[in-house]
Parts: sequence; structure tokens; C-alpha cells
Amino acid sequence: MKDKNFFDVKNKIIVIIGSLGILGRQYVNYLSNKGCTIIIGDHDLRKCKELSDNINKKNGCISYPLEIDVYDEKSIKLFYNSIYKITKKIDVIINNFQVKPDGFYNDFDNYSKDTLMKVIEGNTVGTVLSCKYASKYFLKQGYGNIINISSIYGIVAPDQRIYDGSVNPYDDKIKFSSPVSYGLSKSAIINLTKYLASYYREKNIRVNCLTPGGVFDDHNNEFLENYNSKTLLGRMAKKDEYCAAILFLCSEASSYMSGSNLIIDGGWSSI
Ligand SMILES: NC(=O)c1ccc[n+]([C@@H]2O[C@H](COP(=O)([O-])OP(=O)(O)OC[C@H]3O[C@@H](n4cnc5c(N)ncnc54)[C@H](O)[C@@H]3O)[C@@H](O)[C@H]2O)c1
Repeated sequence: MKDKNFFDVKNKIIVIIGSLGILGRQYVNYLSNKGCTIIIGDHDLRKCKELSDNINKKNGCISYPLEIDVYDEKSIKLFYNSIYKITKKIDVIINNFQVKPDGFYNDFDNYSKDTLMKVIEGNTVGTVLSCKYASKYFLKQGYGNIINISSIYGIVAPDQRIYDGSVNPYDDKIKFSSPVSYGLSKSAIINLTKYLASYYREKNIRVNCLTPGGVFDDHNNEFLENYNSKTLLGRMAKKDEYCAAILFLCSEASSYMSGSNLIIDGGWSSI
């Protein structure tokens, strides 16, 4: 008998929201080599189209660019409606986005309610709404698979000491830290995952969460040394080191998994 390929995602429709970011682009590229159709969702349609054209050419696959703004409920509803119209089914959704409004990196003492609410609205409420509108189609078709993305800072508080002397790789004029809004919004994603796994318990809708640790993205040496010393593997993750975990969660390899949080953090949270 031929071995079953548990990791087969051929002909699956996989939706990635937050496709244009550091990790989103990795997932799009990796999965598009596996014979599935990718919906490239993000809030900049022009860039979604660019990425879609590139990978369709490079990997000979099918992907569709589609605009979604996770702050806008109508946009989320329309997003899933449009996908279903094109593909007639949705197998997997990956809620991979994160928002960084003005003031995102501010210190706790100066954190404005407005910024706090914007981060929670984007990261947490956006994920709730994405799950809600995707599930309408999951219930209709009788199956579904939701992958939410949390963070190491959804399970432990950031060790603020590692940011001393570090430069912000995303904007060197802004102090680098992990702000209060991020961990709050990301811990809620883990609870949401468990809530939905229970809510949809016998509806053939699986809901799981991936919790990644920090990815190396040109951080300065001081930060890198501090970060590395906090992990058991002594380093940050490479950009492609969550791809296989995403494939596992998308495929039948994880068929008996629901309500779980897969932590991949180089051992950071084990000590
Ligand atoms: N990179 C890391 O070190 C790391 C570590 C732990 C967890 N994570 C998590 O992994 C996920 C991906 O991380 P990343 O580093 O690739 O993030 P990123 O900031 O590079 O990408 C985030 C994506 O979300 C999109 N986005 C922002 N606002 C949006 C909106 N209103 N509507 C739709 N899309 C919007 C952005 O355009 C971008 O493509 C995030 O959820 C993040 O919290 C990342």
C-alpha cells in the first residue's frame, strides 16, 4: 500500500491575511509550491497583485490577490464573499496580520488609549471577525480549518532588558520595545482559538494557533546577543522556519488537533 501523504495540500484553497509581511510572503511562496490555490489577502491591493503575479509566474501556481482591511467589518465580509464566489470553497484561513498604528512603540507610561484600542481592534477584533465571516462558509460547506497567529509575547511578558541599547529595525527613529498593546492583543488570540474550537466542536471546523518566537530581520548586534541568550537554541528564527509548521496545520497531518497552541520559539518559554 502506498504511504498516505499527510502533508498534501493539493487543490486546497488557502487564505492568508497579512500576505505582504515578513512571514506572510514566506507562507505564500512556500505553500504556492505545493499545488494549492492561495488567496493573497492584505490591505494594499496593488502589492497583493504584484506578489500574486510574481509567484504565479515563478511557481506556476494559481493565486488570487484580494483586498481586505481588518479594521473594516464590511471589507472582511466582502472578502470571504468574493473568495467563495471565485473558488466555491474555502479550506483554510490563516489570520497572519498585525497592525502597528501611530504610537505603537510608545512606553507604557505614555501609551494612549487610542493606540491601545487600535491595536486591539486590528489584531484581536480583526481576527474575531475574520473567523466569524469565514465560518459562515465553513458551516455551509461542512468543514473548515482556522489558523490564528499569536506570538511568544502572547504567552510571556517581554523581558524589557533585551531592548536596552537596541535599534528598532523597522524605524530607527523610534525606540524599540514590545509595547503593552501587542502582548495583550496576542494573548487574546490564544483564548479566542480555544473558544472557537469549543464553539465549533463537532462541526468539522478545526481551530488552532501558531505561536512564533522572534524572527531575525536585521536587528542590531546588541539586541541579537540579548535575544539569543534568552533562547535554548541560542538564536532568533530564520524567516522560513515556520513554513513547515504552517503546512502541518493546513494539512491532514494535524487532523486530530483543535484548540491547540503550537509554540515554536527556540525554547524561549521553556525556562
Ligand atoms: N516577525 C516576528 O518576529 C514575529 C514573532 C512572533 C509572532 N509574529 C506574528 O506573525 C504574524 C506575521 O508577522 P510579520 O513579522 O510577518 O508581520 P508584518 O508586520 O511584517 O506583516 C503584517 C501584515 O499585516 C498587514 N496588515 C496591517 N494592517 C492591516 C489591515 N488593516 N488589514 C489587512 N492587513 C493588514 C500588513 O500589510 C502586513 O502585510 C503577525 O501576526 C505577528 O504578530 C511575528
